[in-house]
Amino acid sequence: MRRLAAIIIATLSASWLTPIHAAPIEIKFSHVVAENTPKGKMAIRFQQLVEQRLAGKVTVRIYPNSQLFTDAKVLQAMQLGDVEMAAPSLSKFQKYTSKLQIFDLPFLFKDIQAVEKFQNSKAGKELLKSLERKMLVGLGYLHNGMKQMSGYQPVRTPADIAGKKYRIMASDVLQAQFEAVNAIPLKKPFSEVFTLLQTRAIDGQENTWSNTYSKKFFEVQPYITATNHGVLDYLVVTSAEFWYGLPQDIRLKLQQALDEAIIYGNQIAAEKSVDDRQKIIDSGKSQVIDISEAERQQWVDAMRPVWKRFENEIGADLIQAAIEANQ
Ligand code: LMR
Repeated sequence: MRRLAAIIIATLSASWLTPIHAAPIEIKFSHVVAENTPKGKMAIRFQQLVEQRLAGKVTVRIYPNSQLFTDAKVLQAMQLGDVEMAAPSLSKFQKYTSKLQIFDLPFLFKDIQAVEKFQNSKAGKELLKSLERKMLVGLGYLHNGMKQMSGYQPVRTPADIAGKKYRIMASDVLQAQFEAVNAIPLKKPFSEVFTLLQTRAIDGQENTWSNTYSKKFFEVQPYITATNHGVLDYLVVTSAEFWYGLPQDIRLKLQQALDEAIIYGNQIAAEKSVDDRQKIIDSGKSQVIDISEAERQQWVDAMRPVWKRFENEIGADLIQAAIEANQ
């Protein structure tokens, strides 16, 4: 924490002494999804707002589709100063903080409104600071949506995926979640998922309607079960060194542009969770399976013990705060 304070003081005084930057400040924004997604569109909106409001002072260059970094590399690259902004899913911060693992707990949030309420709560806002010790700054949450499970065979209950290989993001909670139903979880980068599915190296994956549609997973997965068992949201993140090294007026304008872009991205997320689901159904390439309440309860019963396993790392109080967001 003292190191962060020292960086803030040193960089603030430096920016005070040198208010005029000869060349525009460049923000490289790296992400892994397609442009036609909540994150892709949020990044473009941010770029446009910065262009309008900080012309000649700041430029934003977006690298979508894992063109610059995968999520496994991007945070380290950010600490080294090789990229300024990214928005990895909340599942990808495990090496940096154990607290954000809360978002991976299965069946913790009943819907995206509960996620939103928790993120806006005191506890949720505090979590934005959980990366400070790693010299990273959480600038805001962005929604994608609730996750569904896709596969080669129809899946209704946990027994249907026993022994099957499922791709997961690099998260121990997600690993425990699939192990709880006797499936075989494999941590793989997002950029490899389509090929893994197409070649049948894996049996299935969990993801949002938007990612399953935009990356064409539905074309190689004939069944998608609407489990809504967990959330896939993002943290927009930057490095402390970059952020606090910016002149204060620029930093404030960037934060404002980002806040507006996130509001827009969240609207896109809400639309896509309905529209992309429908587009998948309309394609006729994948059948969407809605499970009954009793079938859903089987998933809940099998996966809920995962909460207890991670309670010490995440914090019982934090889990309680998230539960309360469902009311
Ligand atoms: C995934 O790896 O499935 C997601 O994190 C991709 C994303 O950024 O939405």
